[in-house]
Amino acid sequence: MASKIDLSVDLARLHLRNPTVLASGIWGTNASLLLRAEKSGAGAVTSKSCSLNPRTGHANPTIVLNEHYCINAVGLSNPGVELESEEIREAKSNCSVPVIASIFAHSIQDFEAVAQKIAEAKPDAIEINISCPNVSNEGRMFACSTADSSSVTARVKDIAGSTPIFVKLSPNVSDIVSIAKSVEDSGADGIIAINTVSGMIIDAYARKPVLTNKFGGVSGPAIKPVALKAVYEISRAVQIPIIGTGGVTTGIDAAEMLMAGAAAVGIGTALSYPGRSFGAIVAELESFMAENGYSGIKQLRLDE
Ligand SMILES: Cc1cc2nc3c(=O)[nH]c(=O)nc-3n(C[C@H](O)[C@H](O)[C@H](O)COP(=O)(O)O)c2cc1C
Repeated sequence: MASKIDLSVDLARLHLRNPTVLASGIWGTNASLLLRAEKSGAGAVTSKSCSLNPRTGHANPTIVLNEHYCINAVGLSNPGVELESEEIREAKSNCSVPVIASIFAHSIQDFEAVAQKIAEAKPDAIEINISCPNVSNEGRMFACSTADSSSVTARVKDIAGSTPIFVKLSPNVSDIVSIAKSVEDSGADGIIAINTVSGMIIDAYARKPVLTNKFGGVSGPAIKPVALKAVYEISRAVQIPIIGTGGVTTGIDAAEMLMAGAAAVGIGTALSYPGRSFGAIVAELESFMAENGYSGIKQLRLDE
């Protein structure tokens, strides 16, 4: 019998067969890995954030994973926008689901240059990762300031033309809702919330921090409550759609994120756990919806 559940979502001019989106950075910068996510059932895929010039990132160890969380200090290693735009072109010509190209920079001028180059590769959308230091503002993250977040959004929007832009917000700020409103006012077509939560881990026996970089970004199950609150609050304050990201590991987690007010759900760390895949998460979401009388994704959103 054909399923009565419609899992598709429309997101800022993108049509997704289901609400799951490969989160940025999880499977790197290569087209082949974006295609792997598509084959395993993702509704859309996001490339790892790229910068104007290649970056090697931080020294090992850079990633620690356990059942509760992942902490990473990869340091945004990437081959630079010149090479990355070739990967986006290749992904675009072989991928049946929307391809979102993620970019970052340390100044407005560099954001403009990276956006220009990546737009030429014609991704379906551009993700602006603003969780990086702005050299012109004493190295404060763009994501910490409404003025900086707005400026980047407005400049990239101008360059992107008809390509939708999504701004990826950091939870490491005092008021994420005001940042969300400022990027909406500056032309963002959507929001991705949240990036990793700042943290550190210490090895008691070695009596030293585990990561060579000392600090890293926490992701995975432990940050789900942080992500849910951010998505809930942002979705009540803006009209543009949100890709709710952070700790989604099962179809039930995905349902909760959609209930909070997300239009789609980013999935990252979950893919490192045994038995976790887009196919599995989507099947669990579909069963949950069938068992609880939902026929479409929008019905999941909480009333209040
Ligand atoms: C190893 C690793 C690398 C990441 N790289 C990026 C990146 O390049 N750009 C970005 O915007 N977010 C990056 N993220 C953050 C994820 O896209 C996502 O926002 C975060 O991990 C929370 O989702 P999750 O709990 O499902 O993993 C990275 C996360 C991890 C674990």
